[in-house]
Amino acid sequence: MPHHVGIIMDGNGRWAKTQGKGRLEGHKKGAEVARNVVQWAKNLGIKQLSLYAFSTENWQRPKLEVRGLMSLLSVLLPKTLPDMMQNGVRFKTLGDLSPLPSSAKRAVQKAVEATRHNTAIDLILCLNYGGQQEILAATKNVLRQALLQDHPEQAIEALTTSTFRDQMWCHDIAPLDLLIRTGGEMRISNFHLWDAAYTELYFTNVLWPDYSQQHLQHALADFQGRERRYGLTSEQVQS
Ligand code: IPE
Ligand code: IPE
Ligand code: MG
Repeated sequence: MPHHVGIIMDGNGRWAKTQGKGRLEGHKKGAEVARNVVQWAKNLGIKQLSLYAFSTENWQRPKLEVRGLMSLLSVLLPKTLPDMMQNGVRFKTLGDLSPLPSSAKRAVQKAVEATRHNTAIDLILCLNYGGQQEILAATKNVLRQALLQDHPEQAIEALTTSTFRDQMWCHDIAPLDLLIRTGGEMRISNFHLWDAAYTELYFTNVLWPDYSQQHLQHALADFQGRERRYGLTSEQVQS
């Protein structure tokens, strides 16, 4: 079983269109599925689940849609809290929360606080998350710290991929083992960029609101049939 699974929950808008509904109706249905997928993942033994809910680029969508997504967050998150407590879900976020409306920030803080001692599964909601922004923020941290040293150049020289990652938002989250993208698009769209170096990718045409437990099980079975070689030969991996 992959330890950390990430999902780019794409296709809400197209799903809504097929139903003759507005985009926000698609996001509402999508949020329901997101709630279910946490439960399925927990039951299947996944320990960390990252859900891409809002990217740094999504601010450029129509104002009404952005506002709707933000209010979905502040309305649905408190409603989901009893569920998360019952299922042992520890709620975390990844991304820069500062530009979020204060009602959304409050809902997030409350959920993080209430669930911090839960241990069954980590739900990492990626909110105003962008992989490039995350790498840039880490770079700024690293440079700021180096400049405080007597020999900044030595500090920079001593950096490794591991000490660099320690400065990233994801520092306390395991690297992504499996990335699932629904909605048929074959791209990463700025999700977990650094760790995507060796993430297994799985794309499906299913639109997110139609995603079911069977679909998740299919993706996991596919993952289990793969050989993760990390640059080695197959023979090396097998011995
Ligand atoms: C994903 O669904 C949800 C968010 C990006 C918030 P989309 O809204 O991107 O749905 P499509 O891609 O337009 O169908
Ligand atoms: C990625 O979906 C972001 C989320 C699912 C939150 P998008 O619909 O924004 O991605 P692009 O624009 O198709 O790359
Ligand atoms: Mg999309």
